[in-house]
Amino acid sequence: MSPSLHSILGADALAAFETQAPVARGLPAVAYTSEAFFALENERIFADSWVFAGLAHELARPGDVVPVTVAGRPVLLVCDVEGTVRAFHNVCRHRCLRLVEEAGNVGPTIQCPYHSWTYRLDGALHIAPYFGGRDPGAVPAGFDRAEHGLVPVRAATWHDWIFVNLNGAAAPLEEFIAPVEAHLGGLDLARMKHVVTVDLGAIAANWKLLMENFIEPYHVPFVHATTTEQPLTDHYTLNEPGCLGCAVDVSGEAKRADTLAADSRYLTLFPNFSLGLYLPDQVGVHLDVPLAPDLTLQRRAIYTLRAELPSAEETEQLARLWRDVHVEDQVICERLQQGRASAVADGGGVLSPVWEDSVRSFQELVVSRLR
Ligand code: FES
Ligand SMILES: [Fe+2]
Repeated sequence: MSPSLHSILGADALAAFETQAPVARGLPAVAYTSEAFFALENERIFADSWVFAGLAHELARPGDVVPVTVAGRPVLLVCDVEGTVRAFHNVCRHRCLRLVEEAGNVGPTIQCPYHSWTYRLDGALHIAPYFGGRDPGAVPAGFDRAEHGLVPVRAATWHDWIFVNLNGAAAPLEEFIAPVEAHLGGLDLARMKHVVTVDLGAIAANWKLLMENFIEPYHVPFVHATTTEQPLTDHYTLNEPGCLGCAVDVSGEAKRADTLAADSRYLTLFPNFSLGLYLPDQVGVHLDVPLAPDLTLQRRAIYTLRAELPSAEETEQLARLWRDVHVEDQVICERLQQGRASAVADGGGVLSPVWEDSVRSFQELVVSRLR
């Protein structure tokens, strides 16, 4: 059992966060740096929510497997013989070894490297060789193979995006995604084709800083001066139950192909799903995987709604543009993390009531889930 929110933050910091005049404060630094806070988030947020965990097109053929980390725990995504994506705890039922280390295709069964216990793609234990003695098929008296299959994790897929819910208690996925669906504005995501995935590596910043940066438009004209042409005044925030984000309706004429001067929607589902819509025909998601208080893995998958996939050259240009945009954000997020080593950050900084109200709501969600 993790220590309580109150004992981690302290009464003074919690009271300061709740004070909203003349402007709201951000979360205190410890929320971004403490192992105890991170453990509490894993327990109360990531184990108790629909968590964005993988990309369905990477699990298209029976036997495709992708090991992932959810709430700090090893989880395995598997494409079964019917082509359905399932999730399991990625742990062998014999001695609890982390079963699969790398994404790939395992064929019809998943075999543990330690003593060769072998599981079918539906998780059933197929063989536990020599477990009961010298006969390869022997099992100890009373040992029921059916009770020692891989332990399933609830999983559901929306378009290319696989969500898992470790404790099985989240509302149906359709309810969870409805607030974002309401902002699609008639875009038919069923037409979406995957173009490219940009691996952004391990970022030395807390997962919340990456999410907060995605949902506030305040930084866009300053941080992305060369990669976007979206004036701040054309932006607005989206601050709704179940969907936090921001948007921009570009009023100017200059819409260049080599920048992001497009009408855009930046939508999130708490805790870690970020969807970007670049109208009329580009879609992107971030897959953020928190590994430690100050370390988050990030990938970006890019899709097109056009009938044709872009050429190899256009794809490369798109990947380059997005890598540049992300590097601009990463540098900032890592400096946000570094700033939290200072006592100055204990007070949480301050938030704009106009441009960072969605950040405030995100932080209130974190606090409310940890109480
Ligand atoms: S730990 Fe997997 S077979 Fe022994
Ligand atoms: Fe940004």
